[in-house]
Amino acid sequence: MARRKKIYEGKAKILYEGPKPGTIVQYFKDDATAFNAEKKDVIEGKGVLNNRLSEFFMTGLTQIGVPTHFLERLNMREQLVRAVEIIPLEIIVRNYAAGSMAKRLGLEEGTPLPRPVVEFSYKEDSLGDPLVPEEYIIAFGWATQQDLDDIVPLALRVNDFMSGVMYGVGIKLIDFKIEVGRVYEGDFMRLVVADEISPDSCRLWDIKTGEKLDKDVFRRDLGNLTDAYTEVARRLGVMPANTGHPKPTLIN
Ligand SMILES: Nc1ncnc2c1ncn2[C@@H]1O[C@H](COP(=O)(O)OP(=O)(O)O)[C@@H](O)[C@H]1O
Ligand SMILES: [Mg+2]
Repeated sequence: MARRKKIYEGKAKILYEGPKPGTIVQYFKDDATAFNAEKKDVIEGKGVLNNRLSEFFMTGLTQIGVPTHFLERLNMREQLVRAVEIIPLEIIVRNYAAGSMAKRLGLEEGTPLPRPVVEFSYKEDSLGDPLVPEEYIIAFGWATQQDLDDIVPLALRVNDFMSGVMYGVGIKLIDFKIEVGRVYEGDFMRLVVADEISPDSCRLWDIKTGEKLDKDVFRRDLGNLTDAYTEVARRLGVMPANTGHPKPTLIN
């Protein structure tokens, strides 16, 4: 048996060459990083949960006509996706102030924004993914004006979908980040949602209690990250068969 070819190992995933040209296998690791990998840990079961959750969100997006890279889940930790040319931007959509925006503008976290805000950071770990204006993106050729004119409504559609799905299970979508890639079909190029959509890349707060159910639990040492992600998966009915140890059920 030939060993499959590793294309890239990132902070949260490994990419392998897929079985067919134009496909890639994404392997979801248990590694958690924050603050540009200054804080690191291995969180047992995180990869399994994110593989399932990303499948769930990407499938839902496909069903409402938002194109994504997702093809099929292969096993507990792997999914088959279309190989895309990643646009080197993190596309961030915010509904409420939090994180860097709250800090920059001196807003209390959780302050509702007058409307959803789309912002971009340049995906470059060595610079800590700096926030960049559209002018920079076009001037440096990371994407064209036409790309941005497509990306903003695409990101807002993802936002409406994700906000609605989360609202339905009592969770407020504070903000999230997506990556977008190009796929070529004959003479045409299409932009699709790529990478992952998971609690690693969203801020999710319980509507009633305000409890955080996302990577801030890890970033800010607020508790057990796997428990938080499991809770999100449970509410969405996305229950992996075996992520760690089942909790005993009290029967009376
Ligand atoms: N469909 C795809 N085709 C090609 N590259 C992808 C695709 N989806 C995601 N990627 C890239 O694969 C990498 C995923 O691994 P990850 O651990 O998240 O890396 P990073 O540490 O760079 O964030 C990212 O660099 C992402 O841009
Ligand atoms: Mg990543």
